[in-house]
Amino acid sequence: MNSNSFPQSWRRGVYEAIARRRDMRSFLSHPIPAETLSRILSAGNQAGSVGFSQPWNFIVVEDEELRASVHDHVEKERARAASAFSAERQQQYLNFKLHGILEAPINLCVTCDRERFGPAIIGRNTIRDTDIYSTCAAVQNIWLAARAEGIGVGWVSILEPDELRRLLGIPPHVLPVAYLCLGYVERFPEQPMLAAAGWLPKLALDQLVFSNRWGEPPSGELTDKLRPPATAPQESERTEQHAHTEKRRGLIVIYTGQGKGKTTAALGIVFRALGRGLRVGVVQFIKGKWKTGERLFAATLPNLDFRVMGQGFTWEGDDLGAHRKAAREAWQAAKDLISSGEHDIVILDELTYCLLYDFIDIADVITALRERPVHVHVIVTGRHAPQELLALADLVTEMTAIKHPFDGGVPAQIGIDF
Ligand SMILES: Cc1cc2nc3c(=O)[nH]c(=O)nc-3n(C[C@H](O)[C@H](O)[C@H](O)COP(=O)(O)O)c2cc1C
Repeated sequence: MNSNSFPQSWRRGVYEAIARRRDMRSFLSHPIPAETLSRILSAGNQAGSVGFSQPWNFIVVEDEELRASVHDHVEKERARAASAFSAERQQQYLNFKLHGILEAPINLCVTCDRERFGPAIIGRNTIRDTDIYSTCAAVQNIWLAARAEGIGVGWVSILEPDELRRLLGIPPHVLPVAYLCLGYVERFPEQPMLAAAGWLPKLALDQLVFSNRWGEPPSGELTDKLRPPATAPQESERTEQHAHTEKRRGLIVIYTGQGKGKTTAALGIVFRALGRGLRVGVVQFIKGKWKTGERLFAATLPNLDFRVMGQGFTWEGDDLGAHRKAAREAWQAAKDLISSGEHDIVILDELTYCLLYDFIDIADVITALRERPVHVHVIVTGRHAPQELLALADLVTEMTAIKHPFDGGVPAQIGIDF
C-alpha cells in the first residue's frame, strides 16, 4: 500500500474483473443499452498506444444480414481449420462452440489504422507492429470493462481479414484486428472453456516468470509468492488437492423453516469466525432498532460490521411503503458489503421476508450472490426461502418447530431470544 494505491474495494474490483473475465460464446438476446456500450467503448479508447497514435476504430455491427454473412464465413473457416488438428482431436475441435455471432446482440470489429498520424510515430520506428499491439490493449480494456458491466465478450478470429474488409467496407490500410461478440450471458464460467474441456492446461505462474535471463527461475521470496499454495503435488495428490481448492470457495448458506434458531445459528457462525480473525458483516433486514444482545455486543467488536436496517416489520397497520424503502436501502447496503469483498462472511438476516413481500427483486439478489467475490460466504436467514435461492445455495438447513415456550405463554427471554 502507498498513497497512490486505490482503496481496497477499487483494487479488488480491478483484480476481480481480470480473474472473472471469460471468453464467451453464448449470449442472451437482451439489448445492451447505448449508455453501457458507450462506457465500454470509452474503456477501449483509453488504452495505451504507441506514440499516442490511437490507431483503433470500433465498428458496431448490429445489422442481421451483415452478421449472417460474417457467420457463414466463420463457419466455413472453422470447418477448414479442423484439418490442422490430429485425427483424434478433430471431432473435439468441431464440437466446440467457438463464436456467438448470431446470438450476440452486438458484434464489434476493432480495427487498426496502420497509417494514422504516420509515417513517423514515437516508438514505432523499429517494431512496426506496435500499432497492432496497441489495438490489442484496447480490446483488453473492452473485455474487462464489459465484464465489470456483466456483459460477455467473445473474440472470434477464425476468419480472413480480407473477407471482413470486404463485408464491412474497411479500407486496405486498415487491419481488422478483432471481431468481438458482445451480450449479456446466463453466467460466466469460472474456468476457461478450453481448460475445462481438457484441451490445454492452465500454465502455472511460477513456470512463466524468469529472473534476468531466459529460463532462469526467480529466486528468494518472489518464487514462494508465485507458487500456488501447496505447489507441485504428486500426481496422486492432484485430484484431492483440486477437490480441496474447490471446497475453499465462499459458500451460500440458508437457515430457513418455521422453527426458532435461524438467526441464532447465523450468529453462532459470527462468533466462530471472529475467533478466527475473519471479518464479518451483518445486515438485519427486518428487526427494528430495539435492543438485542447481539447488537449491544457487536458495538464492542472491531471486525464486525453490524447494521440494523429494518423497521420492525409487523404487517398489521404497517406502512408498507416505509418498509419497502427500508428494505431496499438495506439491500443496497448488503450488496455493497458483498461486492466489496472486504468481509469474509456477510449475513443477510431475515432477507427472505423482503423477498416474500416483493420489497426486493429476487433476480437482483441471485445476480449479486452469483457475482460475489469468490471468497465471500453469504448466510441468509428467514422463513419461506424462495426456490431460486435454495437452488443456488451450498448448504440449506430447515429449522423445524417441535416445541416453543411461546405456546405455553412464556414470554421472550433476555439472552435467549434477544
Ligand atoms: C487473439 C484471440 C483470438 C481468439 N479467438 C477465438 C475464437 O476464434 N474463437 C473462440 O472460441 N475463442 C477465441 N479466443 C478466446 C480464447 O480461446 C480464450 O481467451 C482462452 O481459451 C482463455 O479463456 P478465457 O478467455 O475464458 O480465460 C481468442 C482469444 C484471443 C486473445
